[in-house]
Amino acid sequence: MQDAEPGSRFPADLPAWLALQSHYDKDMHSQSIAALFADDANRFDQFSIGAADLFLDYSKNLISAKTRELLLDLAGEAGVGQGIEAMFRGDAINNTEGRPVLHVALRAAAEDQVGTGVAGVADVQSTLAAMAAFVDGVHAGEITGVSGQSFTDVVNIGIGGSDLGPVMASRALRHCWKPGMRFHSVSNVDGTQWIDLTSALDAEKTLIIICSKTFTTQETMSNAALAREWMKSQLGDNAIDQHFAAASTNHAAMDKFGINPDYRFGFWDWVGGRYSLWSAVGLSLALVIGMDGFRELLRGAREMDRHFRTAPFEQNLPVLLALIAIWYNNFFGAESQVILPYDNRLDRFAAYLQQLQMESNGKSVRRDGQPVAVQTGAVIWGEPGSNAQHSFYQLLHQGTRLVPADFILPVQSSGATQSLQDLAISNCLAQSEALMDGYAAESEDEAYRTHPGNRPSNTILLEKLDPGTLGQLLALYEHKVFVEGVIWGINSFDQYGVELGKRLAKSLTDAVSGDSGAVASNASTRGLLGKIHGMKKRLNVALRH
Ligand code: F6P
Repeated sequence: MQDAEPGSRFPADLPAWLALQSHYDKDMHSQSIAALFADDANRFDQFSIGAADLFLDYSKNLISAKTRELLLDLAGEAGVGQGIEAMFRGDAINNTEGRPVLHVALRAAAEDQVGTGVAGVADVQSTLAAMAAFVDGVHAGEITGVSGQSFTDVVNIGIGGSDLGPVMASRALRHCWKPGMRFHSVSNVDGTQWIDLTSALDAEKTLIIICSKTFTTQETMSNAALAREWMKSQLGDNAIDQHFAAASTNHAAMDKFGINPDYRFGFWDWVGGRYSLWSAVGLSLALVIGMDGFRELLRGAREMDRHFRTAPFEQNLPVLLALIAIWYNNFFGAESQVILPYDNRLDRFAAYLQQLQMESNGKSVRRDGQPVAVQTGAVIWGEPGSNAQHSFYQLLHQGTRLVPADFILPVQSSGATQSLQDLAISNCLAQSEALMDGYAAESEDEAYRTHPGNRPSNTILLEKLDPGTLGQLLALYEHKVFVEGVIWGINSFDQYGVELGKRLAKSLTDAVSGDSGAVASNASTRGLLGKIHGMKKRLNVALRH
């Protein structure tokens, strides 16, 4: 069947979807992964694939050759190929906000022909050059604080996509930090992160990056105000000029805040918050790993972009990951997917993927405004193994739910001795095997020992965690999310679902502080406000003693 206009048809009406449903009903819903291995001596080779520096083993899935063929048909019928070209070309695929989606342009070279002609794309390289001059200047001790001391501590103040990317990547690349540089972050609205951080900071050596696409986000602006007051109190009003930099698309707001014009790094409205690590939002990361490391991250992502754009679907890692996820989500009814990295440096990787996947694909309205008729984005969660083994793996092995897993497994240790990473590797392999093979209790009396098995997983293997492979890994998941969105017919690039709560919080602020007669519209919130006011009253009395 001819490719459709991307996402224009209800997925469940597509012939491949119907064929998948009947294949699931007839052949697969009670299939066993072990039997699939028994039937095919070459299953590992047939169901694994390498791209750039990543290797995906998807043989431990409830997927036969026929399943894969039908899933690939689904990608074709849903117009994934056209969708990919539309994104790289710079079409306004973010239809609700009427703009292109061009994070891929942030890591492209001119010959890649990405978003050619879209305003801003031609400025990507000059912004990178400005970032490089700043980062190198800081490292060379040419750009310093007011007292002439070199910066050692970088604080990223941002939230959501303006926090999770820099935080996740700086932690993942801890072994690549420039000697003497330290990374910190402040995001949450309650202000405790800032308070806890300042006791460890020497203002003279501290550079604060205000990172916000809009430069209006409540959390970021309140934390930025705290930071500005602290800096003034430590080093005087003049310090703001030399101790604050910013990444934003809102030049007027950076002006108003008082950001030094030489320390402002812009980006463009076609960079979505959760896709923005590759832009000036990565400044704090670049300051700790160096501009060479940051460019390596971009290079890695570009490699995955080129793979995504050119590889046939049957060898295309992001397409395959998306199709496998759809298979469990839409046919097996899996509610969630767990992310299990076996390198503790990836301890914020699942949190990063939560925003990437759930903010992108947590939608129930199609691009054409109609309700989606199928499930969309799954709940994404996870923690690094082996910590997670001693926590929630019990449910993965013996619980009642199907939770497909992605194991992320670097082979080389990213810091400790290799023998310890070898322990991590053996734990990872043991877990995916146990999930698949299970364990039959020897007697009925010991039913509690039974592991039913037949629980699917992907393993993504990489030689080592470095800026290049991290770039590949992140781009892999970005594109996986995109493919899912095209098949479901949704816009993966807006986030109206976070707006309502923000609006309500604004209108409740006065009511919480008790400064106005503002009242909540429902009885529960009114009741809670009454309790909160009562508690505040008592606490104020207690605090006065
Ligand atoms: O939480 C919603 C959101 O709009 C995210 O999409 C975004 O990453 C985050 O807020 C931060 O926005 P900004 O970078 O504009 O401060």
